[in-house]
Amino acid sequence: MGSKPAKKKKIVIAIDGPAGSGKSTISKIMAKRLKVLYVDTGAMYRALTLKAMREKLDLEDEPALVRLARFAKIDLVEGSSLKVFLDGEDVSDRIRTSEVTGKVKYIARVSGVRKEMVRLQRAIGRKTSAVLEGRDIGTVVFPDADYKFYLDADLKERAKRRHKELIEMGHDSNVNSVKEDIMVRDESDMQRDVGALKQAKDAIFVDTTHLTIDEVVEKMMSYIK
Ligand code: DC
Repeated sequence: MGSKPAKKKKIVIAIDGPAGSGKSTISKIMAKRLKVLYVDTGAMYRALTLKAMREKLDLEDEPALVRLARFAKIDLVEGSSLKVFLDGEDVSDRIRTSEVTGKVKYIARVSGVRKEMVRLQRAIGRKTSAVLEGRDIGTVVFPDADYKFYLDADLKERAKRRHKELIEMGHDSNVNSVKEDIMVRDESDMQRDVGALKQAKDAIFVDTTHLTIDEVVEKMMSYIK
């Protein structure tokens, strides 16, 4: 009887934390190092927000938003950078505008919308090894993830990072208004009734304020066997 080569175990890594905590940068690097899929769940909520804005939906009309979530086709495609497709159109840049950032909270607070997004995210993580980053990955989407991390940093540092990122992407930005935006977003991310941002009890907490990207990655990788 020939024995089959040992199959590599599938792993799911959950990375949560507030805006500007370093999640995206770190998640991308870790996914690359581990040769697994990178899933930016915030991009999915952003893409839906863009669709709702384009269709001029009333952002308080929850049934309409849930229908939108059921029928929207959102694809995350990895290449040299992650591309986000909405109904076949590349919207990677459009979902990062301040209008979308400001409106995403109306979409993210709707329970039926979240159910749909969680269903999609679970389907990805069940099929393949992945690093998923977001707000509710370790608490709701994959409470049984193999590894859970919660990243945070001082507000001032987070605002500085987001501002730099926006400038690099070619968007207009002002560090004080970025700080305001982040404060408003923290508040709505932490206070919503469903899928609120919070650290899972068994997540490893990493304060990234005074660490370089490499230091954060090394620290997190040291937990992964
Ligand atoms: O990670 P980001 O800043 O691109 O996310 C944009 C918004 O999407 C964030 O303010 C809240 C929402 N979001 C969410 O509700 N749940 C997630 N798992 C990821 C993002």
